Amino acid sequence: MDLTGQVAVVTGASRGIGEVVARTLASAGATCCLASRNEAAAKTVVQAIEEEGGRAIAVACDIADGDQVEAMVARCTAELGRLDILLNNAGITRDGLAIRLKPEDWQAVLDVNLTGTWFCSQAAFKVMLKQRSGRIINISSIVGAIGNVGQANYAATKAAIIGLTKTLAREGAPRGVTVNAIAPGFIDTAMTQALPEKVREELKGHIPLGRLGTPMDVAHAVLFLASSGASYITGQVIHVNGGMLMP
Ligand code: NAI
Repeated sequence: MDLTGQVAVVTGASRGIGEVVARTLASAGATCCLASRNEAAAKTVVQAIEEEGGRAIAVACDIADGDQVEAMVARCTAELGRLDILLNNAGITRDGLAIRLKPEDWQAVLDVNLTGTWFCSQAAFKVMLKQRSGRIINISSIVGAIGNVGQANYAATKAAIIGLTKTLAREGAPRGVTVNAIAPGFIDTAMTQALPEKVREELKGHIPLGRLGTPMDVAHAVLFLASSGASYITGQVIHVNGGMLMP
């Protein structure tokens, strides 16, 4: 899959799924704009991409801040000339049983996961609709489809991302912009490494393929959706979960 000449913004690219996707898109030829709150960590990823023969820039950006998002996309288009692919990956958890969930934890998760995805999509849409081409790929979650104890805030945002995806897909289609979501199951990153080992082992029993996913499992799906082969796919949710959910 050749993305030579294309420019991709990846949010939350300093580690985890975002880092691996950025490196994968770069190795397919895309120039990447790594948007991250942690600029120093994003610069380390830029260095790794350059060592692998790719090209990338790091831009400090809190996606929950609309002004910072506008500035990040403006810098991307000014320095790299265009914007073809947006991966809305940055996300957080602030878990707690619904009965005890603090309003600030509810709000923080909504601000980053949902409003942040919206800010980035809106800023990218302005460029892509004018350009009459583009790919937006949103990272949802299996939890958005089936819920999860202790994650009312997180599950609500991940389900909402699916509605947002389908709406943007309808609005983008007349101008050649596709919008899809990927719903990963349990992927082995810092987010799931925070779970007790016992819980991680129990989880495997619910996954037909018998293992947690890797960031690369998600990166392959992103790469496909970004490629020319996926040009007739829009408004879809691709589940990458080892068979844990078969919707
Ligand atoms: P992670 O915690 O390792 O990485 C998240 C990244 O987002 C970090 O680089 C972090 O700095 C960045 N980030 C957080 N808030 C930000 C903000 N306000 N502005 C800019 N960047 C911000 O998480 P992981 O596991 O790589 O997850 C990536 C995405 O995949 C998230 O949206 C997550 O909800 C989703 N996901 C993860 C699953 C898993 O099992 N790890 C399963 C399903 C979905």
